Amino acid sequence: MEQIMIREALPEDAEAVLACLKQVGGETDNLTFGSEGLPFTAEQERIFLQEQQASDHGVFLCALDGPHLVGTASLQPLPRRMYHRAELGISVVKAYWGRGIGSQLLEQIIAYAKAHGIELLNLEVRSDNARAIHLYEKYGFRSIGISPAFFKIGSQYADCVLMYLDLR
Ligand SMILES: CC(C)(COP(=O)(O)OP(=O)(O)OC[C@H]1O[C@@H](n2cnc3c(N)ncnc32)[C@H](O)[C@@H]1OP(=O)(O)O)[C@@H](O)C(=O)NCCC(=O)NCCS
Repeated sequence: MEQIMIREALPEDAEAVLACLKQVGGETDNLTFGSEGLPFTAEQERIFLQEQQASDHGVFLCALDGPHLVGTASLQPLPRRMYHRAELGISVVKAYWGRGIGSQLLEQIIAYAKAHGIELLNLEVRSDNARAIHLYEKYGFRSIGISPAFFKIGSQYADCVLMYLDLR
């Protein structure tokens, strides 16, 4: 494996981003979707990434092992009276877990938020996702509480912890 590179996703990464998220969706039950992936076409994703690139209040990062896209992290702005906050999402393909990629992505997301005046980051994480909760706590995220039955996967419910990072 080569050195992992983190950079902003480009519109031409659309298919690789969708494939990466689909893979992680199939590898864990931690995301809001499973092995079906996100319901977006490559063209829709390309337009989304173009908008992200143009935005100064949201960002979409990817982690690359050579030409292979192996992780993503996004910061999505909220509208109107929530504009000071943004929602965080992060995914790394399983074969690459434990190599510090999640940490690198999160560090760069936090640096972006600070540089662009985003005051609070919010996320929801399954309460049994110890790896992700550890990662978030390592960077100062705090838990607000549990949102019960946040996911329903088949007939199984899963609770989520609501977390935030206050950058004010
Ligand atoms: C959560 C995720 C992004 C972490 O990515 P990663 O590249 O493995 O993260 P890192 O290697 O930077 O860090 C993992 C940390 O978790 C720790 N860890 C590993 N297994 C753990 C466990 N069972 N319990 C607690 N901590 C654990 C590691 O020791 C490391 O901590 P450290 O840096 O203090 O040593 C990745 O596992 C993932 O994409 N999971 C599937 C999707 C997902 O859950 N996304 C989050 C949805 S909210």
